Amino acid sequence: MRQKNLIVPSILAADFSQLGTEVEHLCEAGVDRIQWDVMDGVFVPNLTFGPDVIAAAGEHSTVGFEAHLMVANPDRLLHRYIDAGCEVVIVHAEACPHLHRTLGRIRELGARAGVALNPHTPASAAAHVLSETDLILAMTVNPGFGGQTYIPTVEAKIAEIRTMIDESGYSIELEVDGGITDRTIVGAAAAGADVFISGSWLYGWAAGKTAGVHELRSRAAWAQTHHDETAA
Ligand code: DX5
Repeated sequence: MRQKNLIVPSILAADFSQLGTEVEHLCEAGVDRIQWDVMDGVFVPNLTFGPDVIAAAGEHSTVGFEAHLMVANPDRLLHRYIDAGCEVVIVHAEACPHLHRTLGRIRELGARAGVALNPHTPASAAAHVLSETDLILAMTVNPGFGGQTYIPTVEAKIAEIRTMIDESGYSIELEVDGGITDRTIVGAAAAGADVFISGSWLYGWAAGKTAGVHELRSRAAWAQTHHDETAA
């Protein structure tokens, strides 16, 4: 069963010298959550936010934070990002030799647990941890940087994950991240996604973030309705 569509901006596209103000502006724009792209320079070739930065920005937020841990060996960092205020923590299946235990640990620490799959990783990598999972993130770019081009072939995997979730009976969000625009969101939503990460497109939308959030939300809803009608 699809969850309500959520629009979750990636802070990676923001002005890092004004993170508190940027968070306030995103909240004013009506976003549902804010995603912090945490990168360690090992799992991905980029370095970004530590927990103290996120904790400081949290004082400016009226919406929840999620941490997308693009890091090697994330178990060592889970408590730091949850203590910093992240209510959802997403780890990469490719970085977790004991994924079932890691997801359970995130929940024990009081956050919701997400598992991210890189474009090459099959949906089956999450098949045996659905009981421990609150969110599955199907990456629509190779992680590490914002502003990359959406990979449309991932849509077949999104549809597979949608079927897996619906057949499981668990309440699990299906998130997509990377190259999500007012155009690419249509295919991702039709395939089954219900949480949409957007960074560079939302920050670049000429009519502003509030209009951009509205545009993404309405395009996703249209795509799902149109898909359901044509599938009926
Ligand atoms: C990849 C990052 C990006 C970011 C969104 O590692 O996770 O996907 O969040 O980037 P845009 O929306 O600019 O493609």
